Amino acid sequence: MSATARKTAPLPSDIRAMKGGAPIVSLTAYTTPMAQIMDAHCDFVLVGDSVGMVLHGLPSTTLVTMDMMIMHGRAVARGLDKAMLVIDMPFGSYEEGPAQAMRNAAQLMRETGAAAVKLEGGAHMAETIAFLTARGVPVMAHIGLTPQSVGTLGGYKVQGRGAAASALSEDARMVAEAGAFAVVIEKVPASLADRITADVAIPTIGIGASPGCDGQVLVVDDMLGLFTAFKPKFVKRYATLGTDGEAAIAAYAADVRARAFPAPEHTFADETPSA
Ligand code: KIV
Repeated sequence: MSATARKTAPLPSDIRAMKGGAPIVSLTAYTTPMAQIMDAHCDFVLVGDSVGMVLHGLPSTTLVTMDMMIMHGRAVARGLDKAMLVIDMPFGSYEEGPAQAMRNAAQLMRETGAAAVKLEGGAHMAETIAFLTARGVPVMAHIGLTPQSVGTLGGYKVQGRGAAASALSEDARMVAEAGAFAVVIEKVPASLADRITADVAIPTIGIGASPGCDGQVLVVDDMLGLFTAFKPKFVKRYATLGTDGEAAIAAYAADVRARAFPAPEHTFADETPSA
């Protein structure tokens, strides 16, 4: 993280002020090179706890720890100059209550330089969001499908259909009232996401929601085709880096076995000094 970086990056209040304006662009990142690639294109970059599934091969995000978030948060911070850094609070680091959430949010921000934390939950997290924001921690809320609660939600299902819509609207209203500067809305009907976007005063960031949201976020490994264990319907693949990478590795293996690599241009002569 450079000093210039933090001067030019938007603040949570700048993201908040983008409500109803040009769509807010966001992706997840977990490493320095990936953060560098997306820095010029994103308003904010999220160190998501999806890192556990897409980089560490864990079966769910509930196994992600504070140490993992801090390590990846630091790596991403080193790659950002322009985009704001937001970091996920991992499962078990904030649900006990406001004091636990404050302690862990402060540690995440202090040790990574993140400008804000994201936590999952609607109405039942409102007290914690109010506590954190009153004490200087900008909070992005996350409602709808909240992957850390996949055990109690009964899987990765669409949320807020039919009679469940009003509870989800209430979640959005309450996190906004509690002081969240933005809210991620995951895997809900598009019409509901549009209604929430019209109703709340903070930006809605959609993932599996609606193009009418104030912004969008995707898991970068999903959209680049690097994570291929499964593909949610809401993911658009913009590249096929997984299959392209496998073809490259197969070509390398064939070259090595044929003694075609390294070629003369990759080797060093004994007599000429070289770099
Ligand atoms: O962990 C994550 O990557 C997320 C987003 C995709 C919203 O929470």
